Amino acid sequence: DWVMGNYIDEAVARIREQVGDQEVILGLSGGVDSSVAGALIHKAIGDQLTCVFVDTGLLRLNEGAQVVETFQAHMGMKLIHVDATRRFMDALAGESDPEAKRKIIGREFVHVFQEEAGRLPRAKWLAQGTIYPDVIESAGAKTGKAKTIKSHHNVGGLPDTLHLQLLEPLRELFKDEVRELGVALGLPREMVYRHPFPGPGLGVRILGEVKAEYADLLRQADAIFIEELRNTKGPDGHSWYDLTSQAFAVFLPVKSVGVMGDGRTYEWVVALRAVQTQDFMTAHWAHLPHELLGRVSNRIINEVRGINRVVYDVSGKPPATIEWE
Ligand code: XMP
Repeated sequence: DWVMGNYIDEAVARIREQVGDQEVILGLSGGVDSSVAGALIHKAIGDQLTCVFVDTGLLRLNEGAQVVETFQAHMGMKLIHVDATRRFMDALAGESDPEAKRKIIGREFVHVFQEEAGRLPRAKWLAQGTIYPDVIESAGAKTGKAKTIKSHHNVGGLPDTLHLQLLEPLRELFKDEVRELGVALGLPREMVYRHPFPGPGLGVRILGEVKAEYADLLRQADAIFIEELRNTKGPDGHSWYDLTSQAFAVFLPVKSVGVMGDGRTYEWVVALRAVQTQDFMTAHWAHLPHELLGRVSNRIINEVRGINRVVYDVSGKPPATIEWE
C-alpha cells in the first residue's frame, strides 16, 4: 500500500546513502528477518550485495533448495550456498550436552561465515536482519536483566572480528512490520509467515548426540507434520499451521518395540510439538484435532522407515520450554 511504498523508498534511499558504491555481505538463513533485510538491501544496491547461505546439515527438508530458488532464481540476488554439513556433523560427533551442542553450532557457523567473508575482500559492510525486539533484548542481556536459560544462537549474530561496518535496516521495525515489508518487497507469503526456526536448527531437535542419519529421519517426519498442518483447516477456516505459533517434530534417541505385518520392529520414537503463544515467553500446547494427529502419526510410521512410534507433547511453557533442548 501507499504507506509501505513510501517506507520502502525512504529505506532504499538511506541504504544507498550509507553504503555508496561499497560492497555488502549478508548471512541469509531463510528466516523472515534476514530474508526481508536481504530483499530490501538488494532493492537498494543490487549486485553490491552478496548473500551467504550456510547449510549446516541441520535444516528442514528442501530448505536449501528453497532459499536458492527464492533468492537466486526468483529475485536475482548474488548468493553463495555453502554446504557445510560434513563440518557440522564432525564437530558435533560424540557431544550430547545441549549447551555444548549450541556452542559448537554457533562457533562453526562463525568459522564458516568468516571463511566466506574472507573470499569477498571488497566487502566493507556486514548486513544483519536485527529487528527492534532484538535491540531491546540485547540491551537487557548487557545489563544482566535477562537470565539465560539457553544460549541463543542466531544466524547473522556475528562477532566484530570481521572488521566490517554493520548495516541493520530493520532495527526500528517490529515483527509484523517486517512481515508486511517482506510481502511488499515481493517475498512469498509462505516464507514471510513461516513459524520461527531456531538458529541451531535440528541440532536442538535431535536429543543428545546429533547424527546425519537422525537428521534425515527427523526431516522427513517434520515435513509430514507441517504438510498436514498446512492442509488441515481449523474452526474458522484457517489452516492449523496458521492457528499454531510453532510446530515441529523432535527426534528421541530411544527405541521401542512395534509390530509391522507379522514381524517385530525395534525403532526410533518421534515427538510432535505444537504450541500457541503471543510472545514465546509462555506458551500453551495446541489442542490439535485427534484425527489430524492420527493422520500425521500413520503417515510418519508408514512413510519414514526407522520410526515406529509417534507421541504428542502436552507440556506448557513454563515449566517446559518450547524446544526440547
Ligand atoms: P524456548 O525453547 O526457549 O524457545 O521456549 C523460545 C523461542 O526461541 C526459539 N529458540 C531459538 N531461536 N536461536 C534462535 O534464533 C536459538 O538458539 C534458539 N533457541 C530457541 C524457539 O524456537 C522458540 O521460538
